Amino acid sequence: MHDFKYIGNRFYCESLNVESVARKVGTPFYLYSHKTLLDHFRKIQRAFKDIDPLICFSMKANSSLALVRALVNAGAGLDIVSGGELFKALKVGCPGNRIVYASVGKTEEEILEAIKKGILFFNVESLPELDLINEASHRLNKVTQVAIRINPDVEPGTHQYITTGKLTNKFGMDFLTARKIFEQRSRFGNLNINGIHMHIGSQIIDGAPFLDAIRRVIRFIDNLRFLGIRLEYLNIGGGLGIIYKDEKPQTADQFAQAVLPLLKKTGLKIILEPGRFIVGNAGILVTKVLYIKKSVEKTFVIVDAGMNDLIRPSLYQAYHEILPLNKYSSRPIKAVDVVGPICESGDFFAKNRKMCLPNEGDLLAIMSAGAYGFSMSSNYNSRKRTCEILAKGSKFAVIRKRQSYQDLVEGETIPNFIK
Ligand code: LLP
Repeated sequence: MHDFKYIGNRFYCESLNVESVARKVGTPFYLYSHKTLLDHFRKIQRAFKDIDPLICFSMKANSSLALVRALVNAGAGLDIVSGGELFKALKVGCPGNRIVYASVGKTEEEILEAIKKGILFFNVESLPELDLINEASHRLNKVTQVAIRINPDVEPGTHQYITTGKLTNKFGMDFLTARKIFEQRSRFGNLNINGIHMHIGSQIIDGAPFLDAIRRVIRFIDNLRFLGIRLEYLNIGGGLGIIYKDEKPQTADQFAQAVLPLLKKTGLKIILEPGRFIVGNAGILVTKVLYIKKSVEKTFVIVDAGMNDLIRPSLYQAYHEILPLNKYSSRPIKAVDVVGPICESGDFFAKNRKMCLPNEGDLLAIMSAGAYGFSMSSNYNSRKRTCEILAKGSKFAVIRKRQSYQDLVEGETIPNFIK
């Protein structure tokens, strides 16, 4: 599943002792395993090899340049959602024809830039957006490929904040609206509307909602074919769940076995947009215990990382396993709250977690933090963003340095009328 493990009582990433990294770079820090990252990408590649899909890594999960470059070098394309992600995608050398662009709120400036850079296609989420892309393409004298994002109205059984394929969500279009667009496609002179996109949610454990959504979408594609409308691409999005605790998500192979027969029949070029599956278990957040605080009701393990570094527990009540970098069998097991230093009661990594009671100064690994960890981090409480480290074998490199206090005020000015 990943390459973080104990050798004896010490915690390793591949063959690198994690504590030795902490001694060199300080805490907190994100640490990624190069091997785990690529293994997960290749798992999907192998599972789907019969149809040779374009696997567009979803940059929102983690857009750190070194990781994205490693995936692009391995043959990945990229799923982007902003001008910033386009900038980074091009910076790591991803060819434009391997980039797909989703988002319900693309600005005109972002659209123009993406057309100029020759991305593969836009995943379009509304009629006004379609009009704008058409008009922008006309201005640039280009014909732009677009896929219509379908909202298939299925329940993926995940957290409500990351459910995207219900009609109450802001994403995509219902089948009827999409069908009208295809019927009137000659109205969009500078568009080649030749794809369908769907993405029903994230951290989906069960295969059934995927199958349900794909079946609905394929029925729609068949209907279009009946009307003489031919497509080139089917983008089935991301969303594959990973193990955080004791989930039993479908494997890449099981997912492929279930959907391949359906996908093959379409004869379309298939795109996938996995994020979490590739990078989720390839990263950890290492943090130091600052204080053990005993209150009347609870024992708090106060650590030097906070919700600004990893917001998933605060935002989604997400579970992340927490492991000591040194195993001590002699310590008592206790139910504790592992909390950060931020001035909010929502600043926690675990509540009532039974774990070996650490001592002040001990180092802990917050597991499965590779996806939506650093990429959702902030400077809240004027905290410097952590550094990021990439391990390969027994070596490591700092792929992003820790911010300085100066970084915290970069770009700010105090106007004269305040002086
Ligand atoms: N494609 C589209 C259009 C998406 O919106 C997303 C994720 C993906 C692909 C990648 O999904 P994945 O394979 O990573 O599940 N911050 C949340 C997750 C938000 C997901 C947003 N969209 C979390 O930490 O759980």
